[in-house]
Amino acid sequence: MPKIFLALFLQMLSLVGLAGLVMVAPQWIEPPYSAFWLVLVHSALVLSLTIVVRMNRWWWLIQVLLPWMWYWALMLKVDPWISLGVFILVVLVFANAFSNRVPLYLSNHVTRKALKKMVAEKFDLYRPVRFLDIGSGFGGNVFYMHQLPQVSESHGVETAPIPYLVSRVRQWFLKTFTGRLKLDANAALTKGSPEQDDLTQAYEENRVSSPKILARDLWKYPLIEYDFVYAFLSTEPMPRLWEKVVEEMPVGSWFVSNSFPVPGVEPTEIWQLSDRRETILYLYQIAPSHL
Ligand SMILES: C[S@@+](CC[C@H](N)C(=O)[O-])C[C@H]1O[C@@H](n2cnc3c(N)ncnc32)[C@H](O)[C@@H]1O
Repeated sequence: MPKIFLALFLQMLSLVGLAGLVMVAPQWIEPPYSAFWLVLVHSALVLSLTIVVRMNRWWWLIQVLLPWMWYWALMLKVDPWISLGVFILVVLVFANAFSNRVPLYLSNHVTRKALKKMVAEKFDLYRPVRFLDIGSGFGGNVFYMHQLPQVSESHGVETAPIPYLVSRVRQWFLKTFTGRLKLDANAALTKGSPEQDDLTQAYEENRVSSPKILARDLWKYPLIEYDFVYAFLSTEPMPRLWEKVVEEMPVGSWFVSNSFPVPGVEPTEIWQLSDRRETILYLYQIAPSHL
């Protein structure tokens, strides 16, 4: 059962428990009972049930906060249409948290710089790199990677409606206001040198003019065309994702997972980044032994 339904079921069960307590409580405590105390008991009940069914700790917080949010919404007489609007917005942004257990959180700039470093270090300088971000959020990585001259194609797939729409709007803005997206050569070679001119020309020949964000489910999207696939998902999909990766990605290509290693598979390299959240990137180069 998806965790969200279990969480809601426990909220309902706690309400039933609360009703039972209110029925027997007059034997010891004189009614009426204030809303504050009722919500407090409801939170305690739901927290106990959440712990008993062994939901992850972050659910504990959600479960305790939910009755208080209902309480404050009633106290402050929040228009139900506003609550419904906020709920719909949350669903449209975090759609995949409910279906795939992958919420939306974004890679930071330090991580993107590490992806750039990977292109420079792990791929032949003369070979164009095709990059894919599976579950691309607001498209930040896709647009960033597209700026690297060596990256000939930079794509993302995203199914949550609002992140997808935001990426498409960003894509439109970038195209309209900067013309062709910036060619910010990562000057490995001296600018203007004959070697760099050759290289720039080679990159230009292979280059596809714009980054692409596709409204496609990552599970149905083929990975065979990509040299570099990046994922920042959650622990949940990693075993199944690895099966897809080794089945579809060519030998020699790279799969990188931000924060979530593939269980039971030794990464080719582990990069510890020096950002505030101490991001770890797990790098896997697809080898015949993986097949
Ligand atoms: C943690 S975010 C990472 C966003 C972006 N890759 C980044 O690093 O900034 C994961 C994204 O994957 C998307 N996602 C989850 N399951 C997906 C699926 N089956 N198909 C496409 N996108 C998915 C979510 O909607 C979310 O935007």
